[in-house]
Amino acid sequence: MSKSKNELILESTTLWDFPTQNYGNIPHGSNKYNGVTPAFIIWNLLQRYTKEDDLVIDPMCGSGTTIDVAKELNRQVIGYDLNKVRTDIIENDSRKIPLDNDSVDFVFIDSPYSNNIKYSDNKKCIGNISCEDPLFFKELEKVAKEIYRILKPGKSMAWLIGDQWIKKKFTPTGFLLYQLLEKYFETLDIICVTRHNQTSNTGLWHNRARRFNFYLRGFKYLFIMQKKL
Ligand SMILES: C[S@@+](CC[C@H](N)C(=O)[O-])C[C@H]1O[C@@H](n2cnc3c(N)ncnc32)[C@H](O)[C@@H]1O
Repeated sequence: MSKSKNELILESTTLWDFPTQNYGNIPHGSNKYNGVTPAFIIWNLLQRYTKEDDLVIDPMCGSGTTIDVAKELNRQVIGYDLNKVRTDIIENDSRKIPLDNDSVDFVFIDSPYSNNIKYSDNKKCIGNISCEDPLFFKELEKVAKEIYRILKPGKSMAWLIGDQWIKKKFTPTGFLLYQLLEKYFETLDIICVTRHNQTSNTGLWHNRARRFNFYLRGFKYLFIMQKKL
């Protein structure tokens, strides 16, 4: 089914393709923020996995997309990030989340995929580490453990991530993250989210991909997983 620009539809397949970052007439997060998450993704997840008044956490909330979508849907929400770009974001390193065990109803996280984007000058940013370095996954595992700890048993989380192909080397960042998440969570489903707005989406890069025999990244994984009861 084709979608118009602002149409909000509950997705019914594992292939999600959103034409724009935002929906409606007011911003959700900022499409000026490097690596901003499409608000449609968070809207779909909150519709399915939460109800009114549930507590939603985004440990790496960037420009606050999760905060805006959650508030609009009458969910309680806390957004953390090392890079505090709004007053309603709490500055925090997500390797240690200041919340009690078993206290949260849903977690959404769109983490760095590698060191491809500069988010801030903060030295602690996991986006300073290449996904070719095992340290990248060690640090993400610390975040995964914290998400596991704060979630109530039986509740879910969703993690958005993409693979990397750089200088003729492919890194299956998504599969590598999935392997470590499986130690803590049970998989509910894996969604493929079409990428539209990355900087390489230009005629020049499409031509290079054909000439030099590689592929531009066309999708991200959205792992939807549950803390066992
Ligand atoms: C892909 S962006 C998130 C985009 C966000 N969902 C939005 O819609 O604007 C990844 C975020 O992770 C943050 N980050 C990286 N390392 C972090 C850490 N150790 N603790 C908290 N945030 C971190 C970065 O500052 C960046 O804002």
